Amino acid sequence: MQSPPQSPAADLSESVAAPRSIEELQERLAGALYFAERSLATAIFLALRLGKPLFLEGEPGVGKTQVAKVLSAILGTRLIRLQCYEGLDVSTAVYEWDYSRQMLEIRLREAAGQLDLGAARRNIFSRDFLLRRPLLEAIEPSDGERPPVLLIDELDRADEEFEAYLLELLSDFQITIPEIGTVRARRPPAVVVTSNRTREVHDALRRRCLYHWIDYPSFEKEHQIVVAKVPEAPARLSREVVAFVQELREADLYKRPGVAETLDWVQALVALDATTLTAENVRSTLGVLLKYQEDVELVDDAAVARTLERVSGVSRAQEVP
Ligand SMILES: Nc1ncnc2c1ncn2[C@@H]1O[C@H](COP(=O)(O)OP(=O)(O)OP(=O)(O)O)[C@@H](O)[C@H]1O
Ligand SMILES: [Mg+2]
Repeated sequence: MQSPPQSPAADLSESVAAPRSIEELQERLAGALYFAERSLATAIFLALRLGKPLFLEGEPGVGKTQVAKVLSAILGTRLIRLQCYEGLDVSTAVYEWDYSRQMLEIRLREAAGQLDLGAARRNIFSRDFLLRRPLLEAIEPSDGERPPVLLIDELDRADEEFEAYLLELLSDFQITIPEIGTVRARRPPAVVVTSNRTREVHDALRRRCLYHWIDYPSFEKEHQIVVAKVPEAPARLSREVVAFVQELREADLYKRPGVAETLDWVQALVALDATTLTAENVRSTLGVLLKYQEDVELVDDAAVARTLERVSGVSRAQEVP
């Protein structure tokens, strides 16, 4: 059952078209419209090279989940996603016995007069009766398939017991199924774990990963993202939107907007045929950016006017002559 242990690093670089340098990785990510500064690209590069899980933390909407999606695209492998939530358990995340098929098998054996209990038990607790869930699937993909990218998303939402369960998986790329034994990855997946930090993820798990904090992007980076993802937006509008959001993140908001909200906002304004920000179109679309009444109240008419004034300065300074 247990396949011979192999070095994760050797495995991964052999089996997937791993980038040869940080620059190459950055280029490939940008080709897939993901813009990573050098520190993040280095963390991703090392995670692939060393065969270690990458643990990404950061505010909501800063591009944590997207790292895994884009990685699977540039490596040409499947993305297996496990969305965490309170109460997530092994039967949903790892494997489950197919009870109805097991019952049916017993009935069929009974009917055929072949009910040897020991043999039946061995048979119905074999792989044929296993329902494979995302983590088992990631450890043991189909024959000939490249190691997938496994995304364990928003781990902070799962219970601590589940987090403890992950330790074996993340350090040895193996899963123990009592009735079968230990299933070890022949070729380990590339693993990305994300957290929004609604609770602290335990040290034991952090130690098994490479860690990177994704911050809100700089003006330049966010502008690059907007231009790449919403190319139809007028140049001036894109600059103003990014400058406005950057200003807004400095305010004492309950929930600061992430890149996701910036992109939604530009798209909304484009849909309204806006070519520049005005007090009116900002106010009427603020709900795309701010999702709490307290925040919408804080950004009142005076705040919008003040921000627009600063924005027009920033936007003019960034204008390409
Ligand atoms: N560096 C980046 N380059 C390109 N797109 C980005 C970047 N950062 C964020 N985005 C875009 O912003 C949006 C939000 O990203 P994503 O869903 O990965 O954020 P997240 O950190 O996982 O957020 P949440 O915590 O809410 O799950 C996506 O559309 C993503 O493409
Ligand atoms: Mg996410």
